Amino acid sequence: MFQQSATLSRVKPSATGAASAKARALKAQGRDIIALDAGEPDFDTPVHIREAAIRAIHDGKTRYTDIDGTPELKAAICAKFARENGLSYTPAQVNVSPGGKPVIYNAMVASLNPGDEVIIPTPYWVSYPDMVLLAGGQPVFVPTTDAEGFKLRPEALEAAITPRTKWLILNSPSNPTGGAYTRDQLADLARVLLRHPQVWVLTDDIYEHLVFGDFEFSTIAQVEPALYERTLTMNGVSKAYAMTGWRIGYAGGPEPLITAMRKVMSQSTSNPCSISQAAAVEALNGAQDFIGPNAKVFEARRDLVVSMLNQAKGLRCATPEGAFYVYPSCEGVIGKRAPDGRTITCDRAFTEGLLEAEGVSAVFGEAFGLSPFFRISYATSEALLEDACGRIQRFCASLD
Ligand SMILES: Cc1ncc(COP(=O)(O)O)c(C=O)c1O
Repeated sequence: MFQQSATLSRVKPSATGAASAKARALKAQGRDIIALDAGEPDFDTPVHIREAAIRAIHDGKTRYTDIDGTPELKAAICAKFARENGLSYTPAQVNVSPGGKPVIYNAMVASLNPGDEVIIPTPYWVSYPDMVLLAGGQPVFVPTTDAEGFKLRPEALEAAITPRTKWLILNSPSNPTGGAYTRDQLADLARVLLRHPQVWVLTDDIYEHLVFGDFEFSTIAQVEPALYERTLTMNGVSKAYAMTGWRIGYAGGPEPLITAMRKVMSQSTSNPCSISQAAAVEALNGAQDFIGPNAKVFEARRDLVVSMLNQAKGLRCATPEGAFYVYPSCEGVIGKRAPDGRTITCDRAFTEGLLEAEGVSAVFGEAFGLSPFFRISYATSEALLEDACGRIQRFCASLD
């Protein structure tokens, strides 16, 4: 009989994937379901990027490439880091992997020894802890609060650091909260990190271009150049360019780390898809004019969702700075009873009851390590969002 490895037994499958699968199954049975659980933009990859991929096929760019990215794509990434983040990386300091997720995984596999600790503020993107566990490390969770916009506080960071701390993972704007760190907030965290030279920073900037109002995106190696030598600045084309299926993520960082990540890839995935790499060159070098308007669309949706959720009895929803998620508290409905007799004992019971009663699929906060909350992805039309939030209001009003 098959038995999975002890290492794999330490991790759980992605909860967001499970929520999406459940919603899809109910839809297939004919139920009227609004899925607010997906983590991808609802618009198509821009035409000029798709055309670049078709050209790449016709031009015969169909063979193995350099393992961690073509020279063209690495040059485009170096230019992007310089142009948008004021960060100077050479091609030898750049890694391209088959998606943002593998960039992080490769970094963990390349650097962690058994027992090494990785500080992960909660709530976190579902994959961080399990990637750390797969790589043999130990996640260390540091809770944040909605009152503080789910931002890690410097004192909490200081208290979590030990001699075994290898990494701090930062994600701004955040999945699942949408919260993004200001320059000053990053500077405060950097001051703590400067006192602990053994701690490296992995900053997941994949939602960089989805920030709202006059919020200005910053990344920590730019804010504190003294951390440059121990920061991996990770990004990707999935969210900003609506390219989730193309699987291209990248990072800039110290050359020894990048070399080690290439070694991991050389014995596992090899290079990312050659055609997707050509498309990513066009994404980074080509027209960027759709990014601002897309962010505006998401901002209007955020405002709609935050306003409607705050009108739902027992819910409380902070206004995040970016991404396409909100992370409302359902503390006010815990202990209440739904019309079908179930008691809302926790955030999981809340999202299960909501799916059962109103056909709205959201992800419970426990999956992101901070309860009692739930995550809504608003990467869908305003009409559907209005319908869904109306249903959430009705479900909350029905609780007694
Ligand atoms: C915070 C965060 N980081 C990384 C990723 C991974 O992106 P990719 O699809 O490029 O692997 C995601 C995708 O959902 C994400 O939300």
